[in-house]
Amino acid sequence: MLPEGMRVTASCAIYLFNFLQYMVLIVVDICCIVLCREAFKIRGASNSIFALDNSQAAKGVVTHSSGNHAAVVALAAKLCGISAYIVIPKNAPACKVDNVKRYGSQVIWSDVTMDSRESMAKKVQEETGAILIHPFNDKYTISGQGTVCLELLEQVPKIDTIIVPISGGSLISGVALAAKAINPSIRILPAEPKGADDLAQPVVRDLVDDVIVVYDNAIVDAMKMCYETLKVAVEPSGAIGLAAALSDDEFKQSSAWHESNKIGIIVSRGNVDLSVLWDSLYK
Ligand SMILES: Cc1ncc(COP(=O)(O)O)c(C=O)c1O
Repeated sequence: MLPEGMRVTASCAIYLFNFLQYMVLIVVDICCIVLCREAFKIRGASNSIFALDNSQAAKGVVTHSSGNHAAVVALAAKLCGISAYIVIPKNAPACKVDNVKRYGSQVIWSDVTMDSRESMAKKVQEETGAILIHPFNDKYTISGQGTVCLELLEQVPKIDTIIVPISGGSLISGVALAAKAINPSIRILPAEPKGADDLAQPVVRDLVDDVIVVYDNAIVDAMKMCYETLKVAVEPSGAIGLAAALSDDEFKQSSAWHESNKIGIIVSRGNVDLSVLWDSLYK
Protein backbone atom coordinates (compact mmCIF):
# COMPACT_ATOMS: atom_id res chain seq x y z
CA MET A 1 0.00 0.00 0.00
CA LEU A 2 2.05 2.84 -1.32
CA PRO A 3 0.88 6.15 0.17
CA GLU A 4 -1.28 8.10 -2.22
CA GLY A 5 0.59 10.38 -4.58
CA MET A 6 3.92 8.78 -3.79
CA ARG A 7 6.24 7.17 -6.31
CA VAL A 8 9.17 5.01 -5.37
CA THR A 9 12.35 6.20 -6.99
CA ALA A 10 15.68 4.76 -6.12
CA SER A 11 18.79 6.65 -6.95
CA CYS A 12 22.45 6.30 -6.45
CA ALA A 13 25.50 8.20 -7.51
CA ILE A 14 28.36 6.26 -8.93
CA TYR A 15 31.90 7.53 -8.61
CA LEU A 16 34.60 6.10 -10.80
CA PHE A 17 38.15 5.93 -9.59
CA ASN A 18 41.32 4.72 -11.13
CA PHE A 19 43.82 3.85 -8.46
CA LEU A 20 46.86 4.83 -10.46
CA GLN A 21 49.29 2.78 -8.45
CA TYR A 22 47.45 -0.35 -9.58
CA MET A 23 46.61 0.70 -13.14
CA VAL A 24 49.83 -0.55 -14.65
CA LEU A 25 49.72 -3.87 -12.88
CA ILE A 26 46.14 -4.95 -12.82
CA VAL A 27 43.96 -2.19 -14.26
CA VAL A 28 41.07 -2.04 -11.83
CA ASP A 29 38.36 0.56 -11.99
CA ILE A 30 36.61 1.03 -8.69
CA CYS A 31 32.99 2.20 -8.54
CA CYS A 32 31.33 3.31 -5.35
CA ILE A 33 27.61 3.56 -4.88
CA VAL A 34 26.53 6.14 -2.37
CA LEU A 35 22.96 6.08 -1.17
CA CYS A 36 20.83 8.66 0.59
CA ARG A 37 19.53 8.88 4.15
CA GLU A 38 19.78 5.83 6.39
CA ALA A 39 21.62 3.80 3.84
CA PHE A 40 20.25 1.32 1.34
CA LYS A 41 17.98 -0.18 3.97
CA ILE A 42 15.06 2.08 3.08
CA ARG A 43 14.78 0.04 -0.13
CA GLY A 44 14.02 -3.23 1.66
CA ALA A 45 11.87 -1.78 4.43
CA SER A 46 9.71 0.28 2.07
CA ASN A 47 9.36 -2.67 -0.30
CA SER A 48 8.11 -4.83 2.60
CA ILE A 49 5.77 -2.24 4.07
CA PHE A 50 4.33 -0.96 0.78
CA ALA A 51 3.50 -4.61 -0.09
CA LEU A 52 1.14 -4.99 2.91
CA ASP A 53 -2.56 -5.07 2.12
CA ASN A 54 -4.90 -2.76 4.00
CA SER A 55 -5.92 -5.31 6.63
CA GLN A 56 -2.28 -6.14 7.38
CA ALA A 57 -1.29 -2.47 7.45
CA ALA A 58 -4.06 -1.74 9.94
CA LYS A 59 -2.32 -4.04 12.42
CA GLY A 60 0.95 -2.13 12.19
CA VAL A 61 4.46 -3.53 11.87
CA VAL A 62 7.16 -4.71 14.22
CA THR A 63 10.86 -5.28 13.74
CA HIS A 64 14.02 -5.77 15.75
CA SER A 65 17.23 -3.99 14.87
CA SER A 66 20.07 -2.06 16.45
CA GLY A 67 20.55 0.19 13.50
CA ASN A 68 19.47 1.47 10.15
CA HIS A 69 16.73 -1.11 9.57
CA ALA A 70 15.02 0.14 12.74
CA ALA A 71 15.00 3.71 11.48
CA VAL A 72 13.83 2.92 7.96
CA VAL A 73 10.96 0.69 9.12
CA ALA A 74 9.90 3.61 11.32
CA LEU A 75 10.17 5.98 8.35
CA ALA A 76 8.31 3.74 5.89
CA ALA A 77 5.55 3.13 8.46
CA LYS A 78 5.23 6.87 9.04
CA LEU A 79 4.90 7.45 5.28
CA CYS A 80 2.07 4.91 5.20
CA GLY A 81 0.45 6.29 8.36
CA ILE A 82 0.65 2.95 10.19
CA SER A 83 1.95 2.07 13.66
CA ALA A 84 5.41 0.65 14.09
CA TYR A 85 6.90 -1.10 17.11
CA ILE A 86 10.67 -1.21 17.02
CA VAL A 87 12.58 -3.57 19.30
CA ILE A 88 16.03 -2.11 19.90
CA PRO A 89 18.84 -3.73 21.88
CA LYS A 90 19.99 -1.53 24.71
CA ASN A 91 23.50 -1.09 23.25
CA ALA A 92 22.22 0.54 20.02
CA PRO A 93 23.89 3.80 18.94
CA ALA A 94 22.05 6.87 20.25
CA CYS A 95 21.73 8.51 16.83
CA LYS A 96 19.84 5.49 15.48
CA VAL A 97 17.47 5.38 18.44
CA ASP A 98 16.83 9.12 17.95
CA ASN A 99 15.88 8.51 14.32
CA VAL A 100 13.35 5.86 15.29
CA LYS A 101 11.79 8.21 17.83
CA ARG A 102 11.83 11.13 15.37
CA TYR A 103 9.76 9.07 12.93
CA GLY A 104 7.18 8.50 15.66
CA SER A 105 7.58 4.77 16.28
CA GLN A 106 7.29 3.10 19.64
CA VAL A 107 10.64 1.87 20.98
CA ILE A 108 10.73 -1.38 22.96
CA TRP A 109 14.06 -2.25 24.57
CA SER A 110 15.59 -5.72 24.54
CA ASP A 111 18.86 -7.25 25.69
CA VAL A 112 21.68 -7.30 23.17
CA THR A 113 21.43 -10.94 22.10
CA MET A 114 19.58 -11.97 18.93
CA ASP A 115 17.45 -14.34 21.07
CA SER A 116 16.29 -11.48 23.26
CA ARG A 117 15.54 -9.26 20.24
CA GLU A 118 13.56 -11.99 18.53
CA SER A 119 11.56 -13.04 21.57
CA MET A 120 10.65 -9.44 22.37
CA ALA A 121 9.49 -8.90 18.76
CA LYS A 122 7.43 -12.11 18.99
CA LYS A 123 5.81 -10.86 22.20
CA VAL A 124 4.86 -7.58 20.49
CA GLN A 125 3.44 -9.55 17.55
CA GLU A 126 1.31 -11.66 19.89
CA GLU A 127 0.05 -8.65 21.82
CA THR A 128 -0.68 -6.31 18.89
CA GLY A 129 -1.04 -8.51 15.79
CA ALA A 130 1.65 -6.38 14.11
CA ILE A 131 3.31 -7.86 11.02
CA LEU A 132 7.00 -8.72 11.38
CA ILE A 133 9.31 -6.89 8.96
CA HIS A 134 12.36 -9.09 9.37
CA PRO A 135 15.69 -7.23 9.15
CA PHE A 136 17.26 -9.68 6.72
CA ASN A 137 15.38 -12.98 6.32
CA ASP A 138 12.50 -11.72 4.19
CA LYS A 139 11.90 -11.85 0.42
CA TYR A 140 10.63 -8.25 0.18
CA THR A 141 13.52 -6.89 2.23
CA ILE A 142 16.03 -8.85 0.17
CA SER A 143 14.56 -7.89 -3.21
CA GLY A 144 14.37 -4.24 -2.14
CA GLN A 145 18.06 -4.25 -1.29
CA GLY A 146 18.78 -5.95 -4.63
CA THR A 147 17.70 -2.81 -6.51
CA VAL A 148 21.09 -1.34 -5.59
CA CYS A 149 22.67 -3.91 -7.86
CA LEU A 150 20.16 -3.36 -10.68
CA GLU A 151 21.09 0.33 -10.70
CA LEU A 152 24.79 -0.39 -10.57
CA LEU A 153 24.69 -2.83 -13.49
CA GLU A 154 22.41 -0.55 -15.48
CA GLN A 155 25.00 2.21 -15.24
CA VAL A 156 28.16 0.13 -15.41
CA PRO A 157 27.21 -3.15 -17.13
CA LYS A 158 30.73 -4.46 -17.57
CA ILE A 159 31.41 -4.95 -13.88
CA ASP A 160 32.79 -8.43 -13.22
CA THR A 161 33.13 -8.34 -9.42
CA ILE A 162 31.02 -6.70 -6.73
CA ILE A 163 32.24 -6.23 -3.16
CA VAL A 164 29.40 -5.99 -0.65
CA PRO A 165 29.47 -5.27 3.09
CA ILE A 166 27.74 -8.01 5.04
CA SER A 167 26.11 -8.17 8.46
CA GLY A 168 22.63 -9.77 8.62
CA GLY A 169 22.94 -10.61 4.92
CA SER A 170 19.95 -8.88 3.29
CA LEU A 171 22.07 -6.58 1.11
CA ILE A 172 24.35 -9.26 -0.23
CA SER A 173 21.43 -11.67 -0.74
CA GLY A 174 19.61 -9.09 -2.88
CA VAL A 175 22.76 -8.08 -4.74
CA ALA A 176 23.77 -11.68 -5.43
CA LEU A 177 20.31 -12.69 -6.67
CA ALA A 178 20.03 -9.65 -8.94
CA ALA A 179 23.59 -9.86 -10.25
CA LYS A 180 23.56 -13.59 -10.97
CA ALA A 181 20.18 -13.28 -12.73
CA ILE A 182 21.71 -10.69 -15.07
CA ASN A 183 25.14 -12.24 -15.43
CA PRO A 184 25.80 -15.60 -13.69
CA SER A 185 29.56 -15.16 -13.98
CA ILE A 186 29.70 -12.03 -11.82
CA ARG A 187 31.80 -12.61 -8.72
CA ILE A 188 30.12 -11.51 -5.48
CA LEU A 189 32.52 -10.94 -2.61
CA PRO A 190 31.24 -10.30 0.92
CA ALA A 191 33.44 -8.03 3.06
CA GLU A 192 33.25 -8.22 6.83
CA PRO A 193 35.30 -6.97 9.76
CA LYS A 194 37.84 -9.31 11.35
CA GLY A 195 36.07 -11.44 13.97
CA ALA A 196 32.59 -11.32 12.43
CA ASP A 197 31.06 -14.44 10.93
CA ASP A 198 28.04 -13.43 8.91
CA LEU A 199 27.74 -16.03 6.18
CA ALA A 200 24.89 -18.02 7.70
CA GLN A 201 22.10 -17.08 5.28
CA PRO A 202 21.39 -19.80 2.65
CA VAL A 203 21.40 -17.37 -0.30
CA VAL A 204 24.70 -16.01 0.92
CA ARG A 205 26.28 -19.45 1.26
CA ASP A 206 25.08 -20.55 -2.18
CA LEU A 207 25.71 -17.47 -4.32
CA VAL A 208 28.77 -15.70 -3.00
CA ASP A 209 32.43 -16.27 -3.54
CA ASP A 210 35.28 -15.86 -1.05
CA VAL A 211 34.75 -13.64 1.95
CA ILE A 212 37.15 -10.70 2.38
CA VAL A 213 38.16 -10.01 5.97
CA VAL A 214 38.89 -6.35 6.70
CA TYR A 215 40.80 -4.86 9.63
CA ASP A 216 39.53 -1.91 11.68
CA ASN A 217 42.29 0.51 10.66
CA ALA A 218 41.48 -0.08 6.97
CA ILE A 219 37.82 0.69 7.68
CA VAL A 220 38.78 4.00 9.32
CA ASP A 221 40.96 4.86 6.29
CA ALA A 222 38.03 4.10 3.98
CA MET A 223 35.67 6.28 6.05
CA LYS A 224 38.24 9.08 5.84
CA MET A 225 38.36 8.76 2.08
CA CYS A 226 34.57 8.93 1.92
CA TYR A 227 34.58 12.16 3.90
CA GLU A 228 37.55 13.73 2.12
CA THR A 229 36.97 12.66 -1.46
CA LEU A 230 33.30 11.77 -1.86
CA LYS A 231 32.12 14.26 0.79
CA VAL A 232 29.66 11.77 2.21
CA ALA A 233 29.18 10.49 5.73
CA VAL A 234 29.67 6.74 5.82
CA GLU A 235 29.54 4.60 8.93
CA PRO A 236 32.05 1.79 9.52
CA SER A 237 29.73 -0.97 8.28
CA GLY A 238 29.13 0.98 5.06
CA ALA A 239 32.82 1.53 4.35
CA ILE A 240 33.97 -2.09 4.67
CA GLY A 241 33.87 -2.83 0.94
CA LEU A 242 35.95 0.21 0.11
CA ALA A 243 38.34 -0.71 2.93
CA ALA A 244 38.85 -4.11 1.32
CA ALA A 245 39.95 -2.52 -1.95
CA LEU A 246 42.13 0.16 -0.34
CA SER A 247 44.06 -2.04 2.07
CA ASP A 248 46.93 -4.32 1.29
CA ASP A 249 45.65 -7.28 3.28
CA GLU A 250 45.13 -10.83 1.94
CA PHE A 251 42.55 -9.75 -0.63
CA LYS A 252 45.27 -8.12 -2.74
CA GLN A 253 47.04 -11.50 -2.96
CA SER A 254 43.87 -13.33 -3.99
CA SER A 255 42.99 -14.60 -7.46
CA ALA A 256 39.70 -12.65 -7.24
CA TRP A 257 41.61 -9.36 -7.12
CA HIS A 258 44.03 -10.29 -9.90
CA GLU A 259 41.31 -11.68 -12.18
CA SER A 260 38.94 -8.71 -11.80
CA ASN A 261 38.89 -6.00 -14.42
CA LYS A 262 36.06 -3.85 -13.12
CA ILE A 263 35.12 -3.99 -9.46
CA GLY A 264 31.92 -2.42 -8.12
CA ILE A 265 32.05 -1.57 -4.44
CA ILE A 266 28.87 -0.95 -2.53
CA VAL A 267 29.42 1.89 -0.08
CA SER A 268 26.25 1.53 1.90
CA ARG A 269 26.56 4.75 3.84
CA GLY A 270 24.46 4.95 7.04
CA ASN A 271 24.52 7.07 10.13
CA VAL A 272 27.66 7.95 11.97
CA ASP A 273 27.20 8.60 15.67
CA LEU A 274 28.79 12.05 15.61
CA SER A 275 29.36 12.19 19.36
CA VAL A 276 31.50 9.05 19.06
CA LEU A 277 33.32 10.46 16.02
CA TRP A 278 34.00 13.84 17.67
CA ASP A 279 35.23 12.13 20.87
CA SER A 280 37.70 10.07 18.86
CA LEU A 281 38.90 13.17 16.96
CA TYR A 282 39.46 15.14 20.18
CA LYS A 283 41.52 12.33 21.77
C1 LIG B 1 25.37 0.97 6.58
C2 LIG B 1 25.26 -0.53 6.50
N1 LIG B 1 25.94 -1.18 5.53
C3 LIG B 1 25.87 -2.53 5.40
C4 LIG B 1 25.13 -3.30 6.28
C5 LIG B 1 25.06 -4.80 6.09
O1 LIG B 1 23.80 -5.13 5.57
P1 LIG B 1 23.09 -6.52 5.87
O2 LIG B 1 22.70 -6.50 7.32
O3 LIG B 1 21.93 -6.55 4.97
O4 LIG B 1 24.11 -7.58 5.60
C6 LIG B 1 24.43 -2.67 7.31
C7 LIG B 1 23.65 -3.48 8.27
O5 LIG B 1 23.28 -3.09 9.32
C8 LIG B 1 24.46 -1.25 7.42
O6 LIG B 1 23.79 -0.60 8.36
